[in-house]
Amino acid sequence: MQADSSIDLSSYRTRANHALETCLPSADAAPEQLHEAMRYAVLNGGKRVRATLVYATGETVGADTALLDAPACAVELIHAYSLVHDDLPAMDDDDLRRGKPTCHRAFGEANALLAGDALQSFAFYTLAQGTAHAPRSLAMVATLAHASGSLGMAGGQAIDLAAVGRDLSLAELEYMHRHKTGALIRASVRLGALCGDDVSSEQLEQLDAYAACIGLAFQVRDDILDVEADTETLGKAQGADIALNKPTYPSLLGLTAAKQKAEELHERAVSELVDFDARADGLRGLSAFIVNRPH
Ligand code: IPE
Ligand code: IPE
Ligand code: MG
Ligand code: MG
Ligand code: MG
Repeated sequence: MQADSSIDLSSYRTRANHALETCLPSADAAPEQLHEAMRYAVLNGGKRVRATLVYATGETVGADTALLDAPACAVELIHAYSLVHDDLPAMDDDDLRRGKPTCHRAFGEANALLAGDALQSFAFYTLAQGTAHAPRSLAMVATLAHASGSLGMAGGQAIDLAAVGRDLSLAELEYMHRHKTGALIRASVRLGALCGDDVSSEQLEQLDAYAACIGLAFQVRDDILDVEADTETLGKAQGADIALNKPTYPSLLGLTAAKQKAEELHERAVSELVDFDARADGLRGLSAFIVNRPH
């Protein structure tokens, strides 16, 4: 993942991939098929933006890198579970994910449901097994639980399903995006920040304001890519939103205004980091990556 010419974020992605590979149960452990489905859903590419946010925020606040692996894995495990369920026939009914058959296409619907369930539990197990000590580790568990549940990602997904074929106002669309995608991205930044010593409440607020902007920008860009990119580059079916008549930023505002919105959010995100030194360059680069990414 290359955010801009001066910042190479690929080392974070490599670190996340290694940590995920190591933490997941082996496919040789019973029940083998469930573990194989879980590993398939997680270890199949993926940009690892959420894990990278944990690492880059940790770097910003001078956290011990060893503390960051557990939260970085935990957010990616929740994210992978959300994708497995998002692709199910009862939800978006998609056949392709990260360039391969979706989990339910490869393993059947029942196994995909269970793989999602088990990944969610495994995320909290991984977070709780991490090297951070209570009360910090309890705050991290609460952060991830809140962001994943009915007041965060799952709630946003419910709003998404209820919105199919309806005309949403821009405020309603923004509310949906902030929940279904923004909540987990905000949690990723907060988890990284919670690993730092001496992070002031003002710094936490500034990082959260940054995260809220990039969380919304991430889904605006996802909506744009659904229109503009091609299936091979995306690794998922292009035009899936249009086919399901989903309300999106391009469908409400048009492509030009949607792109302008993403750019404004990026600029606001970076401006929220004005008080941070060069250690926040990873976060600055990530914001640029999120609004310019090709997939
Ligand atoms: C796709 O997320 C789903 C959304 C929340 C928009 P990503 O674009 O981060 O997917 P991967 O992890 O890189 O496959
Ligand atoms: C998914 O949004 C958000 C999740 C919580 C998984 P989308 O339905 O737009 O994600 P893609 O386009 O299928 O990756
Ligand atoms: Mg969806
Ligand atoms: Mg989808
Ligand atoms: Mg999408």
